[in-house]
Amino acid sequence: MPATLADMLQRLDNVRLTGQRVMGTETGTVPAGHYIDPAHWQREQEAIFHQWPVIAAHSSELGVGSALPFDALGAPIVLTRSGDGRARAFFNVCRHRGMALISAEGPEPAKAKPCRSLVCPYHGWAYELDGRLRHRLHAETFDGIDPATLNLVELPYDEASGLIFVKRSPGAAFSAAAFLQGLDTHLQWLGLADMKVFRKVDRVYEANWKLTVDAFLEAYHIRVLHRDTIYPFFADAHTVNMHAGPHQDSLVARRTAFEAFETPRDRYALCKLATPTQLLFPNTFLIWHPDYVSLIGMFSPAPNKVRWVHTMLIPPDRTGDDWREHWEKTFRLIEETVFQREDIATAVAIQRGLSSGANVCMHAGRLETEVLRFHRGIDAAIEGTLVPAVG
Ligand code: FES
Ligand SMILES: [Fe+2]
Repeated sequence: MPATLADMLQRLDNVRLTGQRVMGTETGTVPAGHYIDPAHWQREQEAIFHQWPVIAAHSSELGVGSALPFDALGAPIVLTRSGDGRARAFFNVCRHRGMALISAEGPEPAKAKPCRSLVCPYHGWAYELDGRLRHRLHAETFDGIDPATLNLVELPYDEASGLIFVKRSPGAAFSAAAFLQGLDTHLQWLGLADMKVFRKVDRVYEANWKLTVDAFLEAYHIRVLHRDTIYPFFADAHTVNMHAGPHQDSLVARRTAFEAFETPRDRYALCKLATPTQLLFPNTFLIWHPDYVSLIGMFSPAPNKVRWVHTMLIPPDRTGDDWREHWEKTFRLIEETVFQREDIATAVAIQRGLSSGANVCMHAGRLETEVLRFHRGIDAAIEGTLVPAVG
C-alpha cells in the first residue's frame, strides 16, 4: 500500500479511537456568481476546460484497433488505439472539408467502434488510426495540395493508471503520471487499470458543473440527503483527506470503520471500511464502492448545465453473465436513486435557488473545507497561478 494511503488509514484509525471528526480550520464562502455568471463560465472554459488535461475515457473502453468519439469538451474529438496499443486523440474533423469522421449513434453513450482506419462519410478520405492520411478518392484532382499537410490534427493525450487524458487545445505533450502528482500510486494499488466497463450514462442536467463536484467533496450531507439510501452504511461526516497538488483523495468512513480493524490487504477490505474517493482536478471523480468503481466526468456545456458522464467499472473477474443481475441492481441503486434522485436533483434545485438572486454566496463550514479548497483551485487556475503539473 502506498505510504500516503497508509497514512490516511492511520488517521482513520485515530478517528475510531478518539471519535473526533477531522475538520478544517476555517469557514468560507463561494460567490453565487461563480455558478450562474456567463462571464465566469467563459473564463473557466478558456483557462480550464481548454487547457487542462481531462479524463476522456477508461482504458478498457478503447480496445486495440478501435475509435471512440468524445465531444464532452465542446469540440469534436476522436480517441483511437492503433495496432501498437497506443491511445491517441485527434480533432474528429476531416482535413478535406471538415466533416466528423466518426459519430455516436443514437441516444446511448458513445462506444468505441472496431475499425482499421477512419473513413470520412462525406467523400471517403481515409486516415490511419495514428492520424496519417491514407487515401483520397480521386487524389489526382487535388494537384498542388501536399498530402503530407493533411494528417489529422493531433491533440495532447496520455494514458496512466487506466485513464485516458486529453487536452482540448493542440500543444505540447504531457505526462499523465506527472499530472496525477502521486495519486497514480493509489489508483494502481486499487487496481483501476484492470477494471472493465459495465455501463455508462451520459446525460445533461440543469445545474452548473461545480454543484455536482461540490456534492462529492463533503460527507456532511450524507446523514440527511441520503438518510434512506446509503446513510445506514456510512458514519456521520467522518472523512480523512489528503491532497496531491489540486487533486484530492479521501476516505469516507463507513460504520464498520468504528470497529477495530486490521490493515486492509486489498481493495475489497479497504472499501468495506471506507469509500476511497478521488477528485482528479478539475472535473473527474473516482468513487470506490464496496465492489465496483464509479468514474464520473462532470463537464460544462453551459453555465447552468452539467454533462454527467458516469462509467461503472467492475472487477475483471466478475464480468460473467452470472454477475449481470447483481451489477444491474447495484447500478440502479447508485446511479438512478442515490445520484440522480438525491445528489443531482439537489444540484438542480440549488441552481434554481442561486439563479433567483436570494443568496449572494454559499456558506461552507469546517466539514466542507474541501469544497472551499476546490473553488480556490478553480479561481487560481483562472488567474493562471495554478497550472497542471505535467512533467
Ligand atoms: S469532408 Fe471528409 S472526405 Fe470530404
Ligand atoms: Fe451525496
